[in-house]
Amino acid sequence: MGYLTAVILAGGAGTRLRPLTEKLPKPMLPVLNRPFLEYTLLALADAGVERAFLALGYQPDSIIEHFGIGENMGLHLEYYVEEEPLGTSGAVRSLLPELDETFLVLNGDVTTEIDYKTLVDRHTENREYGTLAVHEVEDPSAYGLVVTDGEGFVSQFIEKPQGPNFRSNLINSGVYVLEPEILRFVPEGFSMFETDLFPKVLMSGIQLNTHRWSGYFNDMGTVKNYLSLHRDLLNGHAPYTAYASPQKGINTHIDPSAILEGPIILGDETRIEANVKLVGPLSLGARCIIRENTVLETSVLWDDVDVGSGSIVRDSVIGSGMTLKADASILGETSVKNS
Ligand code: GDD
Ligand code: MG
Repeated sequence: MGYLTAVILAGGAGTRLRPLTEKLPKPMLPVLNRPFLEYTLLALADAGVERAFLALGYQPDSIIEHFGIGENMGLHLEYYVEEEPLGTSGAVRSLLPELDETFLVLNGDVTTEIDYKTLVDRHTENREYGTLAVHEVEDPSAYGLVVTDGEGFVSQFIEKPQGPNFRSNLINSGVYVLEPEILRFVPEGFSMFETDLFPKVLMSGIQLNTHRWSGYFNDMGTVKNYLSLHRDLLNGHAPYTAYASPQKGINTHIDPSAILEGPIILGDETRIEANVKLVGPLSLGARCIIRENTVLETSVLWDDVDVGSGSIVRDSVIGSGMTLKADASILGETSVKNS
């Protein structure tokens, strides 16, 4: 594929993941004990992307500190931090001086099995202003609906379509290949690809192409999807499995009377006490203490969580440093420390 630049949109406030995103921006949320954005960057580097811009806004510091110039990710990283949100296309527009060739844009929260080379080839065949990766889903209402003509060109783009009868089951996968010229249609200030730019470009008679692909898709922007991403990775059904950390960290301790079922990942120095039952898919961070007679099922615990004896945790996300009292019952909840 050669040299290619990617812009990763990672400035959103992660509202639908609150309270998990109160102290951590969405790209830094741990997924199997690694910040989510690491998976995206490693996959892009493997696909031959050599330079990526991170368009940031909400809580940028921890991201910049963690990733630096990309030395551990296999590509060169640069940052653009918005003082006020510029929206998805507004953020890319601000990078215009850096973009002089065909480039890739990614929503920073998606996990896909898109073959980037095929996507870029599809784009270069026709050299339209843009090519959108699209895929089929049962319910498009949480996404951007894409209606195409017989040749695969976009005829309509409807963000978060309402109503029971959809004209298409194809959605915007949140990955585009664009020519810098398309940014001429983006006004200064706040604007969105989904609700401003794409409709405007289509109105003006310019064609947008699509690349239809099939395979795994997850947008981890909701708690439900964040949990299902863990489930899919732990079951080996998601493409980033190859980048996931080892099943068992160093210096873990598991009492011989504990029962472990299904896929489970344990962070470094995590301790499982007597008669605990762990039912995967389950991800535990570093230095967690799971006290005796507790049951943990299909959940995600971040680092330094202390679960009191006799507790039950199921289908939940427990943030770093949380202490659960004995006999706690956390079922389908998202708990973070407020102090
Ligand atoms: N820099 C910057 N500035 N980034 C932003 C801004 C902003 O003002 N607003 C949103 N983003 C980033 C978010 O951080 C996220 O990574 C990405 O843009 C998409 O925003 P979401 O808030 O996650 O959008 P969505 O999930 O509701 O819908 C989008 O993704 C779907 C696929 O998952 C749309 O693009 C849909 O059309 C698409 O189907
Ligand atoms: Mg999203």
